[in-house]
Amino acid sequence: MDSKHSALNARKQQATPRGVGVMCQWYAEKAENATIWDAEGNQFIDFAGGIAVLNTGHRHPKIIAAVTEQLTKFTHTAYQVVPYESYISLAERINERAPIEGAAKTSFFSTGAEAVENAVKIARAHTGRHGIVTFGNGFHGRSFMTMAMTGKTAPYKRDFGVMPAGVFHARYPVESKGVTVNDAIQSVEDIFAEDIAAHDVAAIVLEPVQGEGGFNVVPAEFLTRLRALCDQHGILIIADEVQSGFARTGKLFAMDHYETKADLITMAKSLGGGFPISAVVGRVDVMDAPNPGGLGGTYAGNPIAVAAAHAVIDVIESEGLCDRANELGTELVAVLNTIKASSNVVTDIRALGSMVAVELETADQAKAIQNYAMQNGLLILTCGRYGNVIRFLYPLTIPTEQFREALAILKQGFATLTA
Ligand SMILES: Cc1ncc(COP(=O)(O)O)c(C=O)c1O
Repeated sequence: MDSKHSALNARKQQATPRGVGVMCQWYAEKAENATIWDAEGNQFIDFAGGIAVLNTGHRHPKIIAAVTEQLTKFTHTAYQVVPYESYISLAERINERAPIEGAAKTSFFSTGAEAVENAVKIARAHTGRHGIVTFGNGFHGRSFMTMAMTGKTAPYKRDFGVMPAGVFHARYPVESKGVTVNDAIQSVEDIFAEDIAAHDVAAIVLEPVQGEGGFNVVPAEFLTRLRALCDQHGILIIADEVQSGFARTGKLFAMDHYETKADLITMAKSLGGGFPISAVVGRVDVMDAPNPGGLGGTYAGNPIAVAAAHAVIDVIESEGLCDRANELGTELVAVLNTIKASSNVVTDIRALGSMVAVELETADQAKAIQNYAMQNGLLILTCGRYGNVIRFLYPLTIPTEQFREALAILKQGFATLTA
């Protein structure tokens, strides 16, 4: 390792706790669209996108222009003290676009976990109930409530003590893992029978495509049956689209792929194109349940991030990024199928638009591909319960040539593993 990075790693070790686990041993210097340069001038194709934040790429010129313009006006007032029009117009744009039944309202926050926390607060205020059902292998954040909701102990909950009460985990339907739609529905009914009466449940929270859990795509039949079950018991459905939202799946929201509607949808990550903003959109009657002062936060809906989010929506629509997500996803899946045909390590390929993942037999194999890719200038992430899934979160703005360059590295990586 070169000296600049070694020196930074030594300082990192001294100055920051190990609990912030860091994947790369190199440091970012600059980035543009799908490329990151490190502190030594090496360049990487970014297939991680800052963990699903950069569907519009690094520093998209239109986002930078919007942010720069906002910087010349004001950077912070605290919306709850002095409001600004851009917050309202962003809410209006999300309300028009989100797949919510009837009229919608939107409230802004800063992080994904905060959006999920607030969706739970809104659901509790609306129903007057406390219970929350989530799913095994789901991920919802690192705050206390979202930790409890997350369906994976290590590294997220381990050592952090007693979780908030009233959270129960059902099984997420993944047919290839032996969990059928019937099994998953039955697991919800088991919770109602064994842990908490349906009458006390405020909401069922699910990721339409599980992110950290391995890019498992929810079957339409499960959503239809879950909706019927929830309607029968007066329970709300919250779709956590923090990772799947904003064109990644080939539609603005993953829920756009389904006829079933959620009552509330959480979003963050690619909404801000690199600036911290999150949101909850939902049915008007549900969103209006909390009393004034119950929602918000000092930085919630910060004007810089709001300006970025407006530009993100403009870019997604003017550059046709939903279609692009489908094109790129189709090409990647074709390459993965070719790899699978000649490889004995690939066990599954899952995709919705450009939310694409390939599952390997073991975490070591996934790590080996990740290391090979990194050594050859391609940054990729793993995920899944056992860390044996490689997920792809490239900018949807990536030039075709660079995308194919990355796929070639990936193919070589698999070839070395199979050889
Ligand atoms: C589905 C989902 N929900 C919530 C979160 C938490 O978001 P944040 O890290 O911004 O708090 C994540 C982050 O990966 C996520 O993927």
